[in-house]
Amino acid sequence: MKWTHVTVAVAKGRILDGTRRLWTDAGLVWPIRDKSRQLWARPTDQTPGVIIARSRDISTLVARGIADLGVVGLDVLREYPDPGVIQVADLAFARCRVVLAGKQPVWPEGPTRIATKYRRIAEQFFREQAHPIEIVSLSGSLELAPLIGLAPYIVDIVDTGRTLKEHGLVEVTTLFESTARLIANPALWRTKPAVGALRSLFCQKSESLDE
Ligand code: PRP
Ligand code: MG
Repeated sequence: MKWTHVTVAVAKGRILDGTRRLWTDAGLVWPIRDKSRQLWARPTDQTPGVIIARSRDISTLVARGIADLGVVGLDVLREYPDPGVIQVADLAFARCRVVLAGKQPVWPEGPTRIATKYRRIAEQFFREQAHPIEIVSLSGSLELAPLIGLAPYIVDIVDTGRTLKEHGLVEVTTLFESTARLIANPALWRTKPAVGALRSLFCQKSESLDE
């Protein structure tokens, strides 16, 4: 397969590390220079192109056809849904849980404040529980919120649980489990055989999703 016309947008952080492994396990040469700040590698005959971007921008790049495929967490896809992309595989890495956490493992009594970078996810969850909340939007370091009196609860992702533990916080409940997802531009997905071929290479150890 020639990869000259295929580009994959990859989210920075945990997703990037896992994608790099997926890439080399698939027998492809990872085109980003080691320890560099390089954000883009053009596709060549031997390997698809890579664009490294912020997680919430991956769908935009795929929906606009700048990238054929994207690798991004389900947490981000749920927080920033984009009708211009389809999920084509659960890549089964970057596994984590989106949880409600606080100082005690007890459900909030009455209306409460929730600090989160997942406003939409948290609002939907508490709406389903018919529990009134006020969201305090933060973009990171959420574990601080209960400690400094900003909000008694947070909705955040937990991977090893170490960050919660180090801040004396505990899980109250899990909202859902997240993994890295492969997303595609539906038009390019239907018309470029190399894009489907790349999914097959990536999915040797995981599950394709019906598009
Ligand atoms: C994420 C998340 C938690 C932590 C969970 O933060 O928001 O804080 O990782 O991982 P753990 O359970 O293995 O400790 P991240 O490092 O991405 O930083 P940010 O929240 O400041 O963006
Ligand atoms: Mg964090």
